[in-house]
Amino acid sequence: SFEQSLRPQNLKQYIGQDKVKANLEVFIKAAKLRQETLDHVLLYGPPGLGKTTLAAIIANEMGVNIRTTAGPAIERPGDLAAILTALEPGDVLFIDEIHRLPRTIEEVLYPAMEDFCLDIVIGKGPSARSVRLDLPPFTLVGATTRAGSLSAPLRDRFGVLSRLEFYNESQLQDIVIRTAEVLSTEIDLLAAAEIARRSRGTPRIANRLLRRVRDFAQVKGNGVIDEEQAAEALELLQVDRLGLDHIDHKLLRGIIEKFRGGPVGVETIAATIGEEAHTIEDVYEPYLLQIGFLQRTPRGRIVTDLVYKHLKIEREMGT
Ligand code: ADE
Repeated sequence: SFEQSLRPQNLKQYIGQDKVKANLEVFIKAAKLRQETLDHVLLYGPPGLGKTTLAAIIANEMGVNIRTTAGPAIERPGDLAAILTALEPGDVLFIDEIHRLPRTIEEVLYPAMEDFCLDIVIGKGPSARSVRLDLPPFTLVGATTRAGSLSAPLRDRFGVLSRLEFYNESQLQDIVIRTAEVLSTEIDLLAAAEIARRSRGTPRIANRLLRRVRDFAQVKGNGVIDEEQAAEALELLQVDRLGLDHIDHKLLRGIIEKFRGGPVGVETIAATIGEEAHTIEDVYEPYLLQIGFLQRTPRGRIVTDLVYKHLKIEREMGT
């Protein structure tokens, strides 16, 4: 698809995550030299950092097919059996949101990962019997925003554990420039830097902002994106200088105005601003923690002085 062609197709095109990339390069080369299937890989970290892209690259570099599914989509053991038995030797099975796999499915997955076999029950009641089915060897690539939510036995069955990190501004700038090229859009370096600064360390956000800025430039400008246009468009998109959006603001203001800056539990924050606690934890918090705007304490989240400064809020006495 069009979206797919925007994504880097191999490790060489993939910008950032240098340690993850260098390690994967070795493991892929070694597996190919030995003519073996690559060990199972777990990719974890905040959303939008390139887990799905990396899974596709792993398959591409190994020269195999990728079959994609997600934890919540596999409801019954039969669903998993259908996917596994359709694989060709060496294929990558990508399971996104693997922490949301039902426990009953996990148990089917263990022998599949370990011994490439499947124990299935045929029939019901007293005549039910279990048969063991051989599977083609495959590589499971699992992705999750929360490695801590994976059961230990599942986590232990991955040979490669890779944590993706937020990108720095220079890497994001390079990604914006690359994507602009793929989109046949002209952008100057400073405009790409402005988008990079406001992308919360996240390529998915950088590429989304690029498309929106490009819309503004096309309609209101001459089509070439310059720094001023980028900054103006980003203001209109309500993305502030640090890349924080409407919901980040609501979250931070909520903690200050309703809880005097905290500490406050994430469930309580969630209820007051009308978001899911999981969404706050998986999507919003990681970047706010990373830039030092939020801290976790045993009694809950607190906002730091940086937030008062950024939002231009006077800190009350005794808070
Ligand atoms: N597009 C999105 N993420 C990317 C990355 N890490 N490298 C290159 N292009 C990308």
